[in-house]
Amino acid sequence: MQPVDQFSHPCIIDPETLKYRPFKETQRVRDFCCGAPDLDEFLNTDEVEEYDNEGLGRTMLVYRNGDLVAYFTISSEGLRIEYLRTWKSFSRMSEMRMESIPAVKIGRLAVSRAWQKKGVGRALIDHIAGMALVMGQQFGVRLLLVESKKSAEPFYIKCGFELTVPTRRQRSRANRTMFFDLAKIKDVADKE
Ligand SMILES: CC(C)(COP(=O)(O)OP(=O)(O)OC[C@H]1O[C@@H](n2cnc3c(N)ncnc32)[C@H](O)[C@@H]1OP(=O)(O)O)[C@@H](O)C(=O)NCCC(=O)NCCS
Repeated sequence: MQPVDQFSHPCIIDPETLKYRPFKETQRVRDFCCGAPDLDEFLNTDEVEEYDNEGLGRTMLVYRNGDLVAYFTISSEGLRIEYLRTWKSFSRMSEMRMESIPAVKIGRLAVSRAWQKKGVGRALIDHIAGMALVMGQQFGVRLLLVESKKSAEPFYIKCGFELTVPTRRQRSRANRTMFFDLAKIKDVADKE
């Protein structure tokens, strides 16, 4: 579903072999390791369950041939229009008096160390974009959002994300807000 093929390496895994299961329907996880301690801790402790129970984020575990290879957590959020003020397509929305643009936020996304750089990450983004388009049939969703770690920015850029305009609040944070405009793939899907 990616609008352009921006990747220099082919996907080693077949995305069709990935199985997605809601955290609630699975066993507890204790030994997930992606190399980012905060992301590992979220899944290996009670935190993931608390988020799920409080309705703050739904976590999906991703398996391949029975192995846990990745997970992601998503929720709904809006992106304030000033973050997008330099994009022509969004300045029109400011005139429509929109204060924020509806989005699906990727709160957490991690691929287990042994499975990194094989195409799993890009398959997850594709899957989440597909979920967002389906959700968008019930209520408005225009963007995917992520607060990216500096080290993961090149990954998200390859997947078609863009950096938002850095506001003063943003400049004081380590992570940067990035967005993916779902209209890009919706246009492609509509033409198919
Ligand atoms: C970042 C992460 C999700 C990427 O997943 P992945 O399965 O390794 O990514 P893919 O194999 O689909 O890679 C897609 C493209 O992004 C590039 N890429 C992936 N991770 C990258 C990184 N950290 N820096 C630079 N490029 C990266 C790949 O090289 C590939 O591009 P190419 O084909 O042109 O070489 C994964 O490495 C990870 O979980 N890291 C630790 C946790 C983390 O940082 N999560 C993001 C939180 S904001």
